[in-house]
Amino acid sequence: MFTNDISIDLGTATMQVYIKDKGIVLREPTVIAVNTDTNEVCAVGKDALKMLGKTPPNITAVRPLHDGVISNFTLTQEMIKAFLSRILSKSIIRPRIMMCVPSGVTDVEQRAVIESAREAGAKDIYIIEEPVAAALGAGYDISQPHGTMVIDIGGGTTDIAVLSLGGVVISRSLKIAGDEFTEAIVRYVRKEFNLHIGPKTAERIKIKIGGVVPYPKELLCEAKGLCSVTGLPKSVTISSNRLYPIFDELVFNITERIKEVLEETPPELHGDIIQDGIVMTGGGSLIYGLDRRISEEIGVNVYLASDITDCVALGAGIALDGIDTVNDPTHIFHKKAYIRD
Ligand SMILES: Nc1ncnc2c1ncn2[C@@H]1O[C@H](COP(=O)(O)OP(=O)(O)OP(=O)(O)O)[C@@H](O)[C@H]1O
Ligand SMILES: [Mg+2]
Repeated sequence: MFTNDISIDLGTATMQVYIKDKGIVLREPTVIAVNTDTNEVCAVGKDALKMLGKTPPNITAVRPLHDGVISNFTLTQEMIKAFLSRILSKSIIRPRIMMCVPSGVTDVEQRAVIESAREAGAKDIYIIEEPVAAALGAGYDISQPHGTMVIDIGGGTTDIAVLSLGGVVISRSLKIAGDEFTEAIVRYVRKEFNLHIGPKTAERIKIKIGGVVPYPKELLCEAKGLCSVTGLPKSVTISSNRLYPIFDELVFNITERIKEVLEETPPELHGDIIQDGIVMTGGGSLIYGLDRRISEEIGVNVYLASDITDCVALGAGIALDGIDTVNDPTHIFHKKAYIRD
């Protein structure tokens, strides 16, 4: 029996690793910092995140994934290796890895994910689609002929899918997710206050006072940045009451895509979705009021999963756990992508 079965949710914003009987053992920002003179990795995860936008010329700190897929293959590989070495340091057994991929991922993108796990030392690699993993992690029995609808809003991508009999019946992926809400704040602050702020500042504002509906009571947050008129540092106060309308277009784009998926869903599954509601996962779902707005727009109940940011890794773990059982009851959820000789 293998002791090194691990499941990885490699996201645009965060990487989560799940190990059976241990739970989530790693939850780190997907950021890597490299010394460009020596090509050595200086930091990964939280330590590298602190360096984003603050590095001297010979160090570069980047997010090697963009819009849910690998944009810098070498750095993604180095980052995964660094994370896995923390977990597997005392083990000589190569791990079996269940990797999550967005639904609708291209062959090239999928190969990049598989290759990065292989280079990081995986023995066997399995692939599972993120909405399938998200639903499993949220506690749904998706093996039955019963429709389940999942909306996973991450940093770079929103995956909308209807599942039945262990697979994706219909899905849409759009490159509008949590990070687009952050970028909308950067643009708003620049236009309204002539103030340049970085993405980390904008994300802090989003988490503190951002919402797609008004808060019961106005919230305020200070933003510091560079004045584009004077070129000097400046600080302004942002109000939640002015912020929520700037997200309208993003909410519209997401809800339109959800409506498209519902329209294309076979009628037999509609009843199940109306009866059960829709489950939302991913950190981007946490923006205040998004579940309520979506529910109002489409007329179906929307629920936030309980382990909202860990669902995908947990669900991938559930799928991997079944592999050694007789007839592998979880085989309908995943596929074998690489077996080492
Ligand atoms: N409390 C919060 N309120 C609003 N947004 C949040 C909150 N916490 C996290 N987020 C946002 O969630 C997003 C990251 O979510 P998550 O970790 O699920 O993404 P990911 O899985 O790495 O990305 P993807 O699935 O797109 O590749 C970021 O945009 C982040 O700003
Ligand atoms: Mg994700």
